[in-house]
Amino acid sequence: MKHSILQHLDSTPWKDRLIYLDQIDSTNTYAKKLAAAGACHGTVVIAGSQTAGRGRMGRSFHSPEGKGIYLSVILRPHSAASELMHLTCAAGVAMCDAIDAVTGLRPGIKWINDLVYGSKKAGGILTELSLTADGMVDYAVVGIGINCNHTQEDFPADLQAIATSLYLAQGKPVSIALLAAAMIRSLYTMDSTLQNKAQIMDRYRKHCVTLKKEITIHTAHGDRDGFACDIDNDGGLLVQFSDGHTEVISSGEASVRGMYGYA
Ligand code: BTN
Repeated sequence: MKHSILQHLDSTPWKDRLIYLDQIDSTNTYAKKLAAAGACHGTVVIAGSQTAGRGRMGRSFHSPEGKGIYLSVILRPHSAASELMHLTCAAGVAMCDAIDAVTGLRPGIKWINDLVYGSKKAGGILTELSLTADGMVDYAVVGIGINCNHTQEDFPADLQAIATSLYLAQGKPVSIALLAAAMIRSLYTMDSTLQNKAQIMDRYRKHCVTLKKEITIHTAHGDRDGFACDIDNDGGLLVQFSDGHTEVISSGEASVRGMYGYA
């Protein structure tokens, strides 16, 4: 698989930093260990399957062999964490570009990190930061999981109503090697344009299917219904509640679901 991915990478600068593993617990966990040991900016870890794939809010990410892409990239952006709040959004837009380039089928983004077709999830992004004492980013690991060639039956029973794959969305299988290469290229472009926050967030808002919808916010303290008014340039979701007041909800404290379905 590594050879096939490399064949599609031409002269992409991160080409020589690709690590391919047949199986690992989680590419994010593995990449964080590599980064802590000094691995360089642009190191990409891809696994054929994950035994403990992780998502946001402590959820797991189903990662069977031969069906999906499980990829993590290590970034060392030399910036304060407060300047990188849009990183997950930037990765979301970059993944829409990569998927569109290979399949012609552009996903939407459910705030903040889910790639969706209609009301079903086709992938997700998990960003993890390690900070120095003065609030600078030592490294960021951006992990992306895409459901590529799953049939409906390939998903566990509890996911069948809410998960989809590129195969199910477009009616034909996708080349994992081709898409993995497109994802790496897209992540490289994202990294070189990360400072254009306003432009990235404008694109994110256009993709975001959560905006202008009635939503339910799930927090540790319970669920609240509201209306998703806007998204700020740090990826915060502006929500208006039934009593008329608005709050900015950050990705660290909540997940959302449309009131009438998953997205
Ligand atoms: C989510 O659904 O909340 C995010 C899912 C992110 C899954 C990817 S798969 C590659 C990387 N390794 C992990 O353990 N998680 C991310």
